[in-house]
Amino acid sequence: MSKIIGLLSAVCCIIGSTAPSLGADPLNGKDIAKRWCATCHLIESGQASASDQAPPFTYLAKTPDFDQNRLAFLLLVPHPNMPNMSLNRAEVADLAEYIRSLK
Ligand code: HEC
Repeated sequence: MSKIIGLLSAVCCIIGSTAPSLGADPLNGKDIAKRWCATCHLIESGQASASDQAPPFTYLAKTPDFDQNRLAFLLLVPHPNMPNMSLNRAEVADLAEYIRSLK
């Protein structure tokens, strides 16, 4: 029994210690993208409709040096008809992580 508990706590430690260092959460980024960006951008393959003026996220993912700083910078520039978004740093990081995962 104590072996099992020991094993369980070891597993907990591994998960507990790696999760925070992973930082950004691409799944949350995808949620944010669906909510805020998908009306105009193609955010995943198979999406039914998007504006043909907005670059697909797969295209953004291939931009040289794409990372959260660059995304935050790009989001500072007002988009045409962009809804008033108030994304915090963590949300921008999650979004950037999701976009990078599309490469
Ligand atoms: C109302 C439509 C609309 C929404 C919503 C929208 N975008 Fe855009 N976005 C555009 C259009 C159109 C362009 C291309 C024209 C331009 O570059 O200004 C663009 C361009 C971009 C670019 C490239 C900018 C550049 O200069 O390379 C990025 C990055 C981007 N969008 C990110 C996002 C993210 C992230 C979201 C969601 C948080 C989002 N957009 C939501 C319409 C939209």
